[in-house]
Amino acid sequence: MYQEQPTRKPITITALAKMKRDREKFTVLTAYDASFAALLEAAGVEVILVGDSLGMVVQGQRTTVPVTLEDMIYHTRLVARGCRTALLMADMPFASYATVDQAVRNAARLMGEGGAHMVKLEGGGWLAETVRQLSRNGIPVCAHLGLLPQSVHKLGGYKVQGREEAAARQIIDEALALQEAGADVALVECIPAELAARLAEALAIPLIGIGAGPGCDAQVLVSYDMLGITPGRRPKFSKNFLTGHDSLQAAVEAYVRAVKNGEFPGPEHCIA
Ligand code: KIV
Repeated sequence: MYQEQPTRKPITITALAKMKRDREKFTVLTAYDASFAALLEAAGVEVILVGDSLGMVVQGQRTTVPVTLEDMIYHTRLVARGCRTALLMADMPFASYATVDQAVRNAARLMGEGGAHMVKLEGGGWLAETVRQLSRNGIPVCAHLGLLPQSVHKLGGYKVQGREEAAARQIIDEALALQEAGADVALVECIPAELAARLAEALAIPLIGIGAGPGCDAQVLVSYDMLGITPGRRPKFSKNFLTGHDSLQAAVEAYVRAVKNGEFPGPEHCIA
């Protein structure tokens, strides 16, 4: 069993914006069911992400591409039942936001039927009109830039993004365009730590990082990776927090502490 936390105020996008202003780091972890969501919340995680990584860690698929909108709504609904105060972010799956109308319709289903508080979509400046319309419809948005796992077949593999100055500049410009279009939060995956730190400074909205170094305003990991459940090799940027702890709650609390006091990610988790 895990220990429930004394009641905390629900985490809102306003609370996240204030944490950025106050330079207080916040934590994000993935969950795919009610029990895990309740455990993460009890350990102090502010944002719970129903990631389409569920395709790989729950469904056993090789990529996130086969994950459907119905899968995402189902798992978001399960997680929502375990969440009382965390902000619940849900991924829009592959090709579910190919047009602006499709994006608004499908995001509304993730919120209305699934109970999400925010949707996350992968892409750059070309999504500005989509983000604008989602925002106008009262849908909070997290813009996922850098490595875009849903585009793995187009990218030719899971590769670090933004190494060259031109590519780095493009990520910054696109993130600024999405912020201007109404994105509430940005997330960057697998980019050099120095670029992520530049981006966090350039953006007014909070920047969440995974494989992006300690300069971000928040960190996210796939919970199965940070608890050592994922079979095979753990990504270099992740860490098994269960090592040295005797419960899942203690491991997640250690992650929350390590992010907040700047110990995680360390230099060994960074992409140069
Ligand atoms: O699907 C997911 O879990 C994600 C994180 C890796 C950021 O998008």
